[in-house]
Amino acid sequence: MLISDAMNAKLNEQITHEFHSSHIYLAIACQFERQALKMLAGWFKLQAREELSHAYKFIDYVNAQQGVVHLKAIPEPPAEYASPADAIKAAVEHEKKITKCIHELMALAEKEHDFATREFLGWFVKEQVEEVESVTHLYEVANMAGKNLLQLEAYVAQLGRKD
Ligand SMILES: [Fe+2]
Ligand SMILES: [Fe+2]
Repeated sequence: MLISDAMNAKLNEQITHEFHSSHIYLAIACQFERQALKMLAGWFKLQAREELSHAYKFIDYVNAQQGVVHLKAIPEPPAEYASPADAIKAAVEHEKKITKCIHELMALAEKEHDFATREFLGWFVKEQVEEVESVTHLYEVANMAGKNLLQLEAYVAQLGRKD
């Protein structure tokens, strides 16, 4: 194995976090589907898929380093939030938490002089900046739109599918 036991364990934790992110966003997407907010539903479904791809990046990396992938139970996400803004707020908080996790992984890589893992994590450090920014903007617009959810839908529509 080309990574430490501690690093392997922490990378396994991150795999669970990424699947958990996907679960949370898919549940949010389903709430928007129920409310006929198709653009928001599509945006969150896309995020959910991206989170799966993050989980796979970590899985592929652990395998490449001859570590042991240990898949753990994924925490259950809420099925319903009080409002669209609350759902988006939960996503903001979650992304901030994930950023912390990535930074902790990076700190461990630096402490261990594990340059391969540090390099691998660089992509995620940048990705988190983008994700926190985009979901924070969505939350700000949700607050501006208030009860006019069609305005929020229009905002999401004009974002296009750049991702
Ligand atoms: Fe992620
Ligand atoms: Fe994310």
